[in-house]
Amino acid sequence: MLVGGKGTRLRPLTLSAPKPLLPTAGVPFLAHQLARAAAAGITHVVLATSYRAEMFTEAFGDGSALGLFIDYVYEPTPLGTGGGIRNAAGLLRGGPDDPVVVLNGDILSGHDLAAQVDLHRDHGAAVTLHLVKVDDPARYGVVPTGAAGRVTAFLEKKANPPTNKINAGCYVFRRSVIDEIPAGRPVSVERETFPALIEADAVVMGYASDTYWLDVGTPEAFVRGSCDVVLGHLLSPAMPGECGEALLLASATVADDARVTGGTVLGVGSRVGNGAVVHGSVVFDSAAIGAGAVVRDSIVGRGARIGDGAALTGVVIGDDAVVGPGNELMHGARVWPGVRLEQTSIRFSSDA
Ligand code: GDD
Ligand code: MG
Repeated sequence: MLVGGKGTRLRPLTLSAPKPLLPTAGVPFLAHQLARAAAAGITHVVLATSYRAEMFTEAFGDGSALGLFIDYVYEPTPLGTGGGIRNAAGLLRGGPDDPVVVLNGDILSGHDLAAQVDLHRDHGAAVTLHLVKVDDPARYGVVPTGAAGRVTAFLEKKANPPTNKINAGCYVFRRSVIDEIPAGRPVSVERETFPALIEADAVVMGYASDTYWLDVGTPEAFVRGSCDVVLGHLLSPAMPGECGEALLLASATVADDARVTGGTVLGVGSRVGNGAVVHGSVVFDSAAIGAGAVVRDSIVGRGARIGDGAALTGVVIGDDAVVGPGNELMHGARVWPGVRLEQTSIRFSSDA
């Protein structure tokens, strides 16, 4: 599992924790991927870490709580996706022809991983990529395929993509292909390894699916992913409770006349006051939402406080930040950790 990225698009949340460890539907994001891997029969996982590496060991230890053996490798300077995979090679346990599943650490996917491995084996492929269709392919690795699903090109983040079929960030590699990635220098599988394999006429297969899929790399996607798991749109064995409109973790409290809906998760010890509405949001541990506040499609960081009557839509509030009573924050606003917006909306003299 590739978990070494800095998660810059999710700042300020990723200033204190790496993206794969952000609380998602009640558990660290990666727990959902680890649980699905375990359910597909995987027993040994190597986490390819770099940014905030020590936090992964603290979160998952040897993996026994999840029924897995987890090993860790560390890149003092990030080696890219291919370099990260190569760096893990020494810990892989299979032989040269055995399949190795590689996952980006920010993907929620409902596809049948075992079926992807079967397709890989059936074709004796060098690599088999999971493919999904999206509306905005230019943001991803675009993957045209030819007869019988054979991949004909790999185009990473290019304008005017020829197809809307994209790389979904889950690969099956033949072990020997990993050993051939150059060691000790940055390598991108998307820009270097995959194009070179296709150029050399190696068998690179696509496993297409139309099941649930989401890259949670932006705040909007992160909130949607958490809500989708709580609502049961993606079934996760790691979800700590029943699916429904809301997931309340230990000692979270909601005033009788408040409404918490849309797959919202309320973290440990968080509080929602009288008449407040919290919809489709992720509220981290110990955060407090005041009376009459309205919070939609937003992330409220650990220990943050939202004042009475404040209105938040599509925003990210950093850990321990304070949004004073009556403030309104809209689409895309981000409040950095510890910042205090004390009074009602700031006005400029030109508004008068
Ligand atoms: N170990 C390690 N080292 N991991 C890394 C490094 C690194 O240097 N750089 C990135 N990663 C990890 C990230 O932590 C993340 O889990 C994964 O690799 C992918 O990085 P992103 O930064 O999320 O890439 P992306 O979303 O822009 O694009 C990738 O995913 C798309 C699907 O969501 C590409 O693989 C695209 O081709 C693909 O379509
Ligand atoms: Mg990503």
